Amino acid sequence: MRQLYITTAIDYVNNLPHLGTAYEKIGADAIARFRRMEGDKVHFQMGNDEHSAGVKKAAEKEGLPSKKYCDGMKEKFTSIWASLGISYDDFIQTSEKRHYTAVTTFIGKMKKEDLYKKRYEGWYCEPCEAFTLEKDLVDGNCATHKSKPRWLSEENYFFKLSAYQDKLLQHYKEHPRFILPEIRRNEVRNFVKAGLQDISISRAGLDWGIPFPGDSSHTVYVWFDALINYLTATGYGSKTVNKKIGRLSLWPAELHLVGKDITRFHCVIWPAMLMSAGLALPKTVFGHGFVFLKGEKMSKTLGNIVTPLDIIPRYGADALRYYLLRESSFGADGDFTWDNFTKRYNGDLANDIGNLLNRTLGMANKYLEGHLVPLKKTKPLPEDTVLKDKITGVLKIVREEVDWQKSGDINFHKALAAIWEVIGATDKYIDSSAPWRLVKEEKTEELKKTLYNVADSLRNIALLIAPFLPKTSREIWSQLGLEKKLKWEKQVFKNIGWGKTPATQVTAGKPIFPRIDISPSLPSVPTNKENKMENQIEFSEFQKLELRIAEVKQAAKVEKADKLLVLQIDIGGDERQIVAGIAQHYTPEELIGKKVVVVTNLKPAVIRGIESNGMLLAATDTATGKVIVLTPEKEAVAGSKVK
Ligand code: MSP
Repeated sequence: MRQLYITTAIDYVNNLPHLGTAYEKIGADAIARFRRMEGDKVHFQMGNDEHSAGVKKAAEKEGLPSKKYCDGMKEKFTSIWASLGISYDDFIQTSEKRHYTAVTTFIGKMKKEDLYKKRYEGWYCEPCEAFTLEKDLVDGNCATHKSKPRWLSEENYFFKLSAYQDKLLQHYKEHPRFILPEIRRNEVRNFVKAGLQDISISRAGLDWGIPFPGDSSHTVYVWFDALINYLTATGYGSKTVNKKIGRLSLWPAELHLVGKDITRFHCVIWPAMLMSAGLALPKTVFGHGFVFLKGEKMSKTLGNIVTPLDIIPRYGADALRYYLLRESSFGADGDFTWDNFTKRYNGDLANDIGNLLNRTLGMANKYLEGHLVPLKKTKPLPEDTVLKDKITGVLKIVREEVDWQKSGDINFHKALAAIWEVIGATDKYIDSSAPWRLVKEEKTEELKKTLYNVADSLRNIALLIAPFLPKTSREIWSQLGLEKKLKWEKQVFKNIGWGKTPATQVTAGKPIFPRIDISPSLPSVPTNKENKMENQIEFSEFQKLELRIAEVKQAAKVEKADKLLVLQIDIGGDERQIVAGIAQHYTPEELIGKKVVVVTNLKPAVIRGIESNGMLLAATDTATGKVIVLTPEKEAVAGSKVK
């Protein structure tokens, strides 16, 4: 058994997680779960990075103290991580007291000659939370955020990073797995070779941050504080024992998983800080690739952010996990498009694994009343041996693909492809053994053996996918009827093997991945660009619409039409009847007295025998699919024109 301390970057809390930030956590979770199933003792650490200027602004906007705002964001973040099945062991907030203690202790341990004070002037980009050099600006703007940095002139505390150039290069040379994948190692090495400058590690006159030890007119620079979180979480600087860790010594970390944009902080500044404080360096910093949306960077300004909540309520967390992990190696960039997502979902999830489970349970129920038993040893048929070899051989491949020490990358996509080959082989096994024929030919023993073998294969598949698709794994486990005898949470890879499934009574569950009906229900999250390109109309066309505020006077359900409500509305003296398809989202009582927006010049229509003289406007929320009726934001009299 090995002890492994695995961390992700800690997230800024001015925005909620999107697919990019979620990608990192999903990858880290897959590794943590994988290693736990290997029998290792894993401590998986995550958290939020709270001392940024952005946080202070966001909190002020909401009229909240910064700490309260951060605590609220922690609830939101952790609930998203829970819905994605992220199994972290501890979640740190940098505004916690334990972190203040660790940061103060750490700075106290750094070599005195590495810290000094000097006046510094430069361009500071707030979204980066870093100084940028004049030469790196593009038209005076930060190259990443396209916004104008602020000119700062302050007396700051400095860390003598320049003194660590040779030591860092030496460390990279002696520890080729310190920075992975190789492309990141080369980038960082070239950067360090070009020469290092000392860095400012404090900010003057900011009240939101950790007071600089010995000088409370300064706060610790947010990145300097953030990096130390990895130590805080091990109990560093604390006199009390952390209940989650006990007396285990977690440091040095086995693996820091971070995005490729922040490798310099983790592979240059962080190791130099640790050297200065006389502490061991983490074994590996892995700079994973980025998730793009249709090849573009997700950004608020472009309006093209897709979040986990756009996907989970409709398709489940595992569909998202599968898509992101199956696209490319963790070190490379990946891309999200709804088209590809639908293809993967309907192909690999609905058709392959979903269908395999469904047909197996269907046949077991139909032919054997759901009862499957291991049979006494009989001579295996050639097709039995093919399937057995596939199952017993796949773990070795999966292990190699996710082992960054061996391959230098983390190839989730190849590991999943290998597991999907077992799914394909099991499907083929069913087709060639043809249980339906065995029934006809009354070959009962052979039928029992065949269906048992298929269920056994599914049990192995459930174990293999557990780190990647935990909810699906558990569902298969339960539909196979294994839950009572073998607790899913206790399963380890040692349990993989041919013929290890005990006698079981399977259940017929509902499909684990119902097919996506491509056209009507797929939420489209168009980019602003697409909005501009497609479906443009002339203003004169828009003017043809007559939109008005109406008051709902009466509302009632339409008999035998569970989606429809019939409303009597008043449009400023003009009383009308309209039919609206919102009965699954609103009760009649909720609507009576409400002011709504109505298209008043639509030709009358008869819907289910009821005349409708207008149309109510409502939005369908992309994230939840809920229908939300549009109402004026302030009081407006019925009949008011909307344009
Ligand atoms: N707070 C810093 C990290 C401090 S670690 C001591 C930070 N926060 S962040 O919220 O901007 O990003 C959190 C993580 O998400 C980072 O590792 C970042 O690289 C990653 N990602 C942000 N956008 C991403 C994509 N579009 N794709 C993949 N990962 C991305 O940086």
